[in-house]
Amino acid sequence: MATVRESLRRRLVGLASLRAVSTSSMGTFPKQVKIVEVGPRDGLQNEKNIVPTPVKIKLIDMLSEAGLPVIEATSFVSPKWVPQMSDNADVLKGIQKFPGINYPVLTPNFKGFQAAVAAGAKEVSVFGAASELFTKKNTNCSIDESLQRCDQVLQAARTTGIPVRGYVSCVLGCPYEGKIPPAKVAEVAKKMYSMGCYEISLGDTIGVGTPGIMKDMLSAVMHEVPVAALAVHCHDTYGQALANTLVALQMGVSVVDSSVAGLGGCPYAQGASGNLATEDLVYMLAGLGIHTGVNLQKLLEAGTFICQALNRKTSSKVAQATCKL
Ligand code: HMG
Ligand code: MG
Repeated sequence: MATVRESLRRRLVGLASLRAVSTSSMGTFPKQVKIVEVGPRDGLQNEKNIVPTPVKIKLIDMLSEAGLPVIEATSFVSPKWVPQMSDNADVLKGIQKFPGINYPVLTPNFKGFQAAVAAGAKEVSVFGAASELFTKKNTNCSIDESLQRCDQVLQAARTTGIPVRGYVSCVLGCPYEGKIPPAKVAEVAKKMYSMGCYEISLGDTIGVGTPGIMKDMLSAVMHEVPVAALAVHCHDTYGQALANTLVALQMGVSVVDSSVAGLGGCPYAQGASGNLATEDLVYMLAGLGIHTGVNLQKLLEAGTFICQALNRKTSSKVAQATCKL
């Protein structure tokens, strides 16, 4: 039976959907947003202590229960580079596969693709960046070489009918090169889309962007890639992730990456911190009357579970606010 505190918490969580505001003066928003939950991969890859495999599996199962339509489950990268993801096959095999939910995994090269498919992956993501120095730090190659690796994965995926998502990192700034020209982001995004990625996720890897820069970058990319094939992936280092995401929604983007409890960061991007918290995104979208299909209460429970397992405080403002009740 729910305690008084719990029922108060539930009532507050429900308030988000009652607060649907008139959006007529705010531009046009998509009616529906697809949330790509990246917590189990982006969130956990940055954890120094190895998280037990059963914890990872339980987190993903709880996120599935919460109704997230896409949950990036793990990555098939080199275990020498990211030891935290070395249980990738066990995680992928261990999770419950809910009907209608996709569980893509990150693959940096053909070797990773083969291992992912052998473990039962039905969708993969490749990743590149708009910065030469970051590409070297993250994948030990140039942008051109990383695009060739993506192309190899795409060719193999085509023969097996596996959909491939593409990430472009450092779209609003790079920890090693600083400012990144929007034209460079558009060039890399166009190449990945032309190779066959069905969706391009634009990553503010170190969370330095602000809404004006997001607008300029997206305007450039939208000349080359249809907006229906774009997603945004905002890290929240400077507290700008929700504002940057709102701008993207106003420009027609309807796919948003986020991470439960705001976990996240790339181990090879100096200064990177967590992603936009999924709880905060869901709360904002509910307030705007935008459908996501996500149950905020269950999502909050998943956030509480993983924060307890990691022995850390949540970065989600919504989770902080509701747990004070
Ligand atoms: P390398 O050392 O240049 O690779 O790393 P290599 O081809 O020379 O191979 C070295 C060893 O790794 C060999 O083993 C290979 O077999 C093995 P050894 O002979 O020494 O025993 N190896 C692999 N093992 C397992 N799976 C594989 C694999 N590939 C090679 N797939 C490599 C190149 C790309 C592999 C490495 O740099 C790497 O794994 N990098 C991944 C780094 C990473 O995971 N970063 C975080 C994800 S990206 C991100 O977070 C950004 C994002 O969230 C968007 C955003 O926020 O902007 C997506
Ligand atoms: Mg990321």
